[in-house]
Amino acid sequence: MLVTIPTSLAPPSVLAFASDLDELPMADEYEFDFGRARWFPPFSMLLLSIILKRFRDSRSHCRCRARNHEHHSYAAHLGFFYSFGLQHGNLPGEAPGSDNYVPITKLAVADIRREALERWVEVGDVVETRARELSAVLTRADRGPLYDTLAYSIREIIRNAVEHSEAAELFLCAQHWPSRNQVEVGIADAGLGIRQSLSRNTSFAGLDDREAIQMALMPGVSGNPLAGKGTDVWQNSGYGLYMTNRICRNGGSFMLCSGSAALHLTATDKVDLVGNMPGTAVRLLINTERLPDLRDQLGRFHSEGRQAAQAIRGANRSFASTASQMLSVDFRNEPTHEDF
Ligand SMILES: Nc1ncnc2c1ncn2[C@@H]1O[C@H](COP(=O)(O)OP(=O)(O)OP(=O)(O)O)[C@@H](O)[C@H]1O
Ligand SMILES: [Mg+2]
Repeated sequence: MLVTIPTSLAPPSVLAFASDLDELPMADEYEFDFGRARWFPPFSMLLLSIILKRFRDSRSHCRCRARNHEHHSYAAHLGFFYSFGLQHGNLPGEAPGSDNYVPITKLAVADIRREALERWVEVGDVVETRARELSAVLTRADRGPLYDTLAYSIREIIRNAVEHSEAAELFLCAQHWPSRNQVEVGIADAGLGIRQSLSRNTSFAGLDDREAIQMALMPGVSGNPLAGKGTDVWQNSGYGLYMTNRICRNGGSFMLCSGSAALHLTATDKVDLVGNMPGTAVRLLINTERLPDLRDQLGRFHSEGRQAAQAIRGANRSFASTASQMLSVDFRNEPTHEDF
C-alpha cells in the first residue's frame, strides 16, 4: 500500500498525518513516498520520526519501505531517516553540528543519570551543561542574551523529559537562522505524556489531554506533589513551561503536543490543534530581534506568574528559589571575532 508523506510538514499536517496512519487498513507492505514533501523543519522531523516509529512498531509484522527519500539531503544530513530506522544519510548525532544547527540528537536518560553520579553532581547540573553546549553551537557564543535564553529554555524542556516522562531517551533538533532572526528548537520524548504525569498530583487528576496541557503551562502547576517544598535548587516548582512559553511568545511562538492534544501559542493567539502522538513534544521558536525587550519582560513574567499562581487551585505558592525561576540574562553584547 502506498502512503504519501504530506507536502507540507508544518506540525498540524504532521499531526493530521498521524491520525491518517491510525486509520490505514492492514497490509503486508507499506511504501512511504517522500517525493511530495518539501521542507523538513527541525521540530517536524522529530514529530514525524516518532510517529513513523510508532506506526512501524504497531505493525511489526508488516514491511515498511521508503521511496523518493534520496532527494532530501538536509533531512538526511541531520539524521532524520536513520532516526526512524531507515538506513539513509547520517546517524542521529553524526553530523558535526556547526553552521548554527544541532542535528537530530538522542539523549539517553540513563547516560545523564550516570554522568551525575560520576561527577557527584545533580541531574539538573548535567542537563545544564548539555543545554549550554547546545546553546553555544546554535549561537556560536558563550554568553549574551540569546545564549542565556536558549540555554535556560533548552535546559527546562530537557529537564522535563528527564524528570517527568519516564522515557528512556529524548530527541532534540535545532536550527538558528541568523538572517531570519529566528531559532527553532524541537525536543520530544515518547514517554507517558503530560496528562498522566500531571495526575501524580491529586489536584490535577482527572483532566483530559487538552485540559492537562493547558494546566501544565500555568505558573506553579506541577505533577510533582512535593513541588515548591524543600530547599533544593533543582526541586520542581511548576515554572519551567510557564516561563519558556512566555519567553517564546515574546515575538516568536511556543507549541506543546502531548497525546491527543496540541497547542500553538503566539503573543496574541492560542490555537488548539488535534494531537496524535505518544509522549510529549515541544517546539520553541525564538525571535532574536526581540531579545532586547526580554530584559524588561523577564521580571514581569515571573512576578505575574507568582501572582497568578495564588488563584490556581493546587498550584505551588511557595517562594522557594528554584532553578526554573532563576533566569538571569547577560545583556552585554555577544563577543565578536575581535574579542578576547
Ligand atoms: N516531557 C514531559 N513528560 C511528561 N510530563 C511532563 C513533561 N513536561 C512537563 N510535564 C508535566 O507538566 C508539569 C509542569 O511542567 P513545568 O516544567 O512547568 O514544572 P515542573 O517541571 O513540575 O517544575 P520546574 O519546571 O519548576 O522544575 C510537570 O510537573 C509534569 O507533570
Ligand atoms: Mg519543569
